[in-house]
Amino acid sequence: MDHEPGAGYSLPGRHESFWMETTPETSYPPLPGDIETDVAVVGGGIVGITTALLLKQAGYTVAVIEGDRVCSGVTGHTTAKITSLHRLIYADLIDRFGSTEARQYADANQAAIGKIAALVQEYAIPCSFERKPAYTFAESADDRERVAAEADAARGLGLPAAFVEEIPLPGRTYGAVRFADQAQFHPRSYLLHLASLVPEAGSRIFEKTRALAVEDEKGSCRVRTENGTVTARAVVLATHYPFYDGPGFYYARMEPSRSYVLGVRLDEPFPDGMFINAAGPAHSWRSQPADGGELVFVGGMQHRTGEDTDTREHYRSLEAYARSVYPLRSVDYRWSAQDYITIDGVPYIGPLADGHENVYIATGFRKWGMTNGTVAALILADMIRGRENPWSGVYAPDRFKPTASARRFLVHNIEVAEKYISGAISRPSGDLADVRPGEGRILMIEGRKAGVFRDREGRVRAINPACTHMGCVVAWNSAEETWDCPCHGSRYDASGRVIHGPAVKDLAPRRG
Ligand SMILES: Cc1cc2nc3c(=O)[nH]c(=O)nc-3n(C[C@H](O)[C@H](O)[C@H](O)COP(=O)(O)OP(=O)(O)OC[C@H]3O[C@@H](n4cnc5c(N)ncnc54)[C@H](O)[C@@H]3O)c2cc1C
Ligand code: FES
Repeated sequence: MDHEPGAGYSLPGRHESFWMETTPETSYPPLPGDIETDVAVVGGGIVGITTALLLKQAGYTVAVIEGDRVCSGVTGHTTAKITSLHRLIYADLIDRFGSTEARQYADANQAAIGKIAALVQEYAIPCSFERKPAYTFAESADDRERVAAEADAARGLGLPAAFVEEIPLPGRTYGAVRFADQAQFHPRSYLLHLASLVPEAGSRIFEKTRALAVEDEKGSCRVRTENGTVTARAVVLATHYPFYDGPGFYYARMEPSRSYVLGVRLDEPFPDGMFINAAGPAHSWRSQPADGGELVFVGGMQHRTGEDTDTREHYRSLEAYARSVYPLRSVDYRWSAQDYITIDGVPYIGPLADGHENVYIATGFRKWGMTNGTVAALILADMIRGRENPWSGVYAPDRFKPTASARRFLVHNIEVAEKYISGAISRPSGDLADVRPGEGRILMIEGRKAGVFRDREGRVRAINPACTHMGCVVAWNSAEETWDCPCHGSRYDASGRVIHGPAVKDLAPRRG
């Protein structure tokens, strides 16, 4: 997507992910028909590619089934900090889960940093992998206490944590928690290399092959795709959101959250480190070596997918925030993406549900999927090999802690779905003549709702705005020119083609 979205509005930077622009496109073939394999891995992001490689190294045959191109989903639109410092989490984990589970989370994420470093070294992958400290900084006196508590909690769990009064970013801070020896990299350079190691000795990668359904019976699973069926002993749903939910009810237990990224250049070198604020709208910073000099990625401004009407404002606010910290020489890139947040903030990694022990999921990374996605690969590879894994307990998908905040989350999610299914929020507004070039709107046409998009040449395309996943009414995303579903985060391009699950079917066109 490199066109300028939003009629009459200019937004900062090129509308492209730096990671996508600076790496070659892949061209793995589509699935040629029905095949058999040991493990079918559906989805080729960091979870799918890493899991496939680990299983292949363990002697299994794997088939990666990717609906689009590998590493072009969220993993191609991340900020790629590799750290176990996940804003603030450890004090809360100890409180809500207990110290055994909090330690599992800490150990797992530290091990993931080590695993990525080891793979980079083993295969000499040129992916600008660099060790960096990570900071979560307080922007107010209130946040200071929470940051200090986080440093204590993390240190108690054996993490390389310290409370520091100052950080090397400009501006006033009230202290920070600092983790030593974390890392950053170019995620596509890393993962495209790992992907290139998969197709060999019976293992394969298939692109442009959307999985439509999973059947799971008597020790044998079938993944039905648009190009044929893959029969396997185990299936890993590495699709970011499990499009096949079974009896897991994940749709009620997670919410989709979008964030925005700008790639900027400064007149001075960026300090050594990766940074994020402790609370409120996220402000995240890291640097990246690039042609033409160092780029700096500033990210944040999260909101529930489909809930904000003018998403262009988030790019503008992010630019204004960045300019309040540094005078910017230029804004070169902008992109946005989404991740899922579970009811208790910890990902779901493991078997889909009771009675579905051969179908595995990995989802809900809360924007910390570089380490947690690698953790998922390590846990799932162990499970499929029948090995114990020391961290699987905290990630078990069937856990449920009936805390007050968990109940509030569930009720809120159900209310949101009810409102969007009934259409109480996405109200039709105006008529066809009001829709400007580059704009999409929900209109009432002949007594029925329609999603109407007018392109820059004036052509109008109309779709049925009922999401093909579970029927919520989609909302127009002005910054990306997409139809986004607020219920579980499915996304469609302006003509209604699915670009992000859990939906697997396109929005139906509306004629007349
Ligand atoms: C703006 C932003 C910044 C972030 N920054 C960081 C960070 O600094 N550090 C960090 O640790 N994490 C970060 N994250 C989180 C991290 O990027 C994600 O958690 C991670 O990339 C998710 O990886 P994945 O493999 O689960 O999903 P994806 O990379 O999206 O891969 C899933 C793949 O499955 C495919 N697929 C989906 N449905 C189907 C289907 N039905 N059939 C076939 N294929 C299908 C998709 O096409 C896609 O390629 C960030 C997230 C966002 C949104
Ligand atoms: S994503 Fe579930 S209803 Fe749209």
